[in-house]
Amino acid sequence: MKKPVRVAVTGAAGQIGYALLFRIASGEMLGKDQPVILQMLELPMEKAQAALKGVMMELEDCAFPLLAGMVGTDDPEVAFKDADYALLVGAMPRGPGMERKDLLLKNAEIFTVQGKALNKVASRDVKVLVVGNPANTNAYIAMKSAPELPAKNFTSMLRLDHNRALSQLANKAAVAVADIEKLVVWGNHSPTMYPDYRFATVNGESLKDRIGDAEWNADTFIPTVGKRGAAIIEARGLSSAASAANAAIDHMHDWALGTGGEWVTMGVPSDGSYGIPEGVIYGVPVICENGEYTVIKDLPIDDFSRAAMDKTLAELEEERSGVAHLL
Ligand code: NAD
Ligand code: LMR
Repeated sequence: MKKPVRVAVTGAAGQIGYALLFRIASGEMLGKDQPVILQMLELPMEKAQAALKGVMMELEDCAFPLLAGMVGTDDPEVAFKDADYALLVGAMPRGPGMERKDLLLKNAEIFTVQGKALNKVASRDVKVLVVGNPANTNAYIAMKSAPELPAKNFTSMLRLDHNRALSQLANKAAVAVADIEKLVVWGNHSPTMYPDYRFATVNGESLKDRIGDAEWNADTFIPTVGKRGAAIIEARGLSSAASAANAAIDHMHDWALGTGGEWVTMGVPSDGSYGIPEGVIYGVPVICENGEYTVIKDLPIDDFSRAAMDKTLAELEEERSGVAHLL
């Protein structure tokens, strides 16, 4: 048996937390041979702490062989102590009629506090995934609040957008999701994101050629993926939870255990490639190996793509200037 690793999850009693924790404890995130210690953070309010206690009772009742310990707390420095992985989920979700950036100031402070706590107590190799919205800018805030940790340890979740795009493409082209490779979702986790299948293949053949229908891309595909979060809120009255938790599992699984050469999308601090200013947390294609991600470089960017990538960048820069006073 491997030595247990510490996995911190914030917002542990929320809807995503409830869909996430049991899968982490069962080994779906880090492998069926990797014991985990769950370190769960919730707000200090009585209701939140009581709900967390209930979740911990249920985790206990599953008797997961890989669950090597549990901590429930309202103190970020306890939750992040020696954490090897940190999934920052806890934040306010949007309701009908809101955009994710409407949450910016409400949620920004959470990520300043948590970035500082990670800086102080987490493992120096901690892998951080920000799920709470607006995820890219919150990841940026956490990264800037943790100057002693490597910037590359901070990522935001675009995997839900990537998975949504995969399913739309598989339906359109009448192919299996598993046969599609080399998909990218550029930019912000917001309706400005740019899902891009120009490089995608199905069993080695061009997916773009197979789909043919050039108008479908701009008229249907891009807006459907971009507005999917709002469509779920409209249908459920609540924001996506099981699919978001699933994407978080995919993101961390692949980062830790590798993608076997396949591309996935992660929001990562830019190294300046593709004209994205250094440090901006931007969705890009990566491959993961040995616990590290590597950005796929030098993909050709046509005029349509440049405009789409610049639009989502402009939104990220606007969000960043909206929180500059906090940093
Ligand atoms: P939820 O309201 O059901 O749960 C959030 C939980 O976080 C609550 O239990 C709350 O008490 C807790 N919380 C709030 N502030 C906290 C803090 N400072 N420390 C610890 N816990 C705190 O919401 P949810 O549906 O689980 O969504 C959580 C976040 O994830 C939202 O911001 C939502 O918009 C976002 N989200 C992101 C994606 C994505 O793809 N990036 C997808 C879905 C949802
Ligand atoms: C999603 O994409 O489902 C989440 O970011 C929730 C939201 O507000 O859209």
